[in-house]
Amino acid sequence: MFRLSELDVLGRIVGEATPTSFIFSCDPSIGPPERWEYIIVESYERTSQGMERVFVLAQVEKPVSASMVLQPTTDHQAVERIADMGVDRRVAYAQARVLGYLSDDGNVKIPRRAIVPGKLVYRAPSDLLKKFFSYGEASIELGSLITRPEVPVSISVQGLRRHLAILAATGAGKSNTAAVLIEGLMEKGATIVILDPHADYVFLGQTQDGRPMEYVERVTIFRNPGSTGRYSPSQILAEVNEFTIRFSDLEPEDLFSMLDIPQTSVHIRRAISKAIDFLKENRGSYTASDLVEKLNIMAEEEEDNRLRLAASSAAERVRQRLLGLPIFGESTTPWHDILRPWHVSVIDLSGVTGYAFDFTATKVLSDIYWAVSSGKFRYPVFLVLEEAHKIVPADRQTHSKRIVNVIASEGRKFGIYLVLISQRPCKIDPDSLSMCQNQIILSMVNPKDQEAVRSAAERVSEELLRDLPGLNVGEAVLVGEFTRVPVTVKIKRRRSKEGGADIDVVQRLKAAKEEAEIEGFEDVDMPRGDEWDKG
Ligand SMILES: Nc1ncnc2c1ncn2[C@@H]1O[C@H](COP(=O)(O)OP(=O)(O)OP(=O)(O)O)[C@@H](O)[C@H]1O
Ligand SMILES: [Mg+2]
Repeated sequence: MFRLSELDVLGRIVGEATPTSFIFSCDPSIGPPERWEYIIVESYERTSQGMERVFVLAQVEKPVSASMVLQPTTDHQAVERIADMGVDRRVAYAQARVLGYLSDDGNVKIPRRAIVPGKLVYRAPSDLLKKFFSYGEASIELGSLITRPEVPVSISVQGLRRHLAILAATGAGKSNTAAVLIEGLMEKGATIVILDPHADYVFLGQTQDGRPMEYVERVTIFRNPGSTGRYSPSQILAEVNEFTIRFSDLEPEDLFSMLDIPQTSVHIRRAISKAIDFLKENRGSYTASDLVEKLNIMAEEEEDNRLRLAASSAAERVRQRLLGLPIFGESTTPWHDILRPWHVSVIDLSGVTGYAFDFTATKVLSDIYWAVSSGKFRYPVFLVLEEAHKIVPADRQTHSKRIVNVIASEGRKFGIYLVLISQRPCKIDPDSLSMCQNQIILSMVNPKDQEAVRSAAERVSEELLRDLPGLNVGEAVLVGEFTRVPVTVKIKRRRSKEGGADIDVVQRLKAAKEEAEIEGFEDVDMPRGDEWDKG
């Protein structure tokens, strides 16, 4: 594979060394290697074959350069003289954290024996690192090592069985990371459903410059009738369908949960059930306003006093919560349109907020869970949930939270895997977050969010957390089952075109100026005076 004699020697192990960390001294004229540099040392471990030579991979955690005589308390003139005479007795050393050695079966093992002082420390060869960060056929490449751009870093698809959270401050690169992952999963034949509240993924089927991605035929965008996404369906190369729910397909139980009517409100439930029975019998298909109308009639005409009152408050509740919701349409999008083998379905939920968002997310997730757990759909499904703090909030109960928690705990038995994405980890339900045993963490500055990540992920060391604010856009820490060892990567750019990007303020200001100049402010066709009111 490689010969030790051909590698760069960086120093020699000194002082106390353990199986998990060591310190090595370096040539002070060169200085210690940079932070996060990968290094190897030779060691011996007991294997089934007896004692065997292994190469232990470690990472520089703390490079130190110091002088034995130039101390902060040294008199300044003395400092100058010592420096002039060149007797400052500089030392350089570095503290390293052991990552493990690659055993014959391809797994990483943590050494049991202490690393031996006096041993040489080498710069790890890129070929060895490539092995460390790839998983053969079961790999999805996400980017490369920040310190070694020539070393690709992949994650293991098997590891995704433990769910994934992608967490970072806003604008740090979450959606780009998710898109890279989705593109990789599409190469493997995955079924993916994305709940997309900002229409970030509507262009997944096409490249930046408008060419079709090789799997464009396997992408469907489901647009809700009230979509506020900044795109028109004609810009999309993939198939565009409507995502709607037919009001009359909702069962009374669905309505009770959307309307938050507890089991104890017996009369209100009775009034709604009665109204629905009537509409089903007489109309077949009906809308939310038909229901309000029927309840209003009942509020006038019912003989039972309690039912009259109940119908009146039910009518008010339905009117407030359900009238005019953008998701209702002529038919209900069936689960088998959304869930198709080797297919990505993007559900554009832009413009869907509040109860409607909770309801829609719950409906889609419950349908998927039912289809997979009942064996109707037999392939692995990845559910990508953007704005996860709204779907599984920490501070309140939502309907979607229940189903996500069921999926988080039971889903992997059936092959449903979650990808939760959020810019506010501290606002995600901690139980749901801690079930995501894989994490991709990009730049994060808010201490509360860092704390949430720390409590959710056992494997995030203090050192890694301390580095989070210093990461640049697109730089991420990967921890969890899907990586052999925690690693900091530069995520590559998604190939597909991004949607929902920030508007370019400078460009738009320039355009405004140009248009105003051409047309002349006086001539701009704008409503005047009372015309404003007419809209
Ligand atoms: N890996 C990367 N390499 C280079 N540039 C990147 C990378 N990731 C993101 N960017 C840049 O940063 C911008 C924001 O990225 P992205 O939309 O993925 O962030 P986000 O965390 O999802 O933001 P938001 O919180 O607004 O959803 C992108 O438009 C792109 O210009
Ligand atoms: Mg985003």
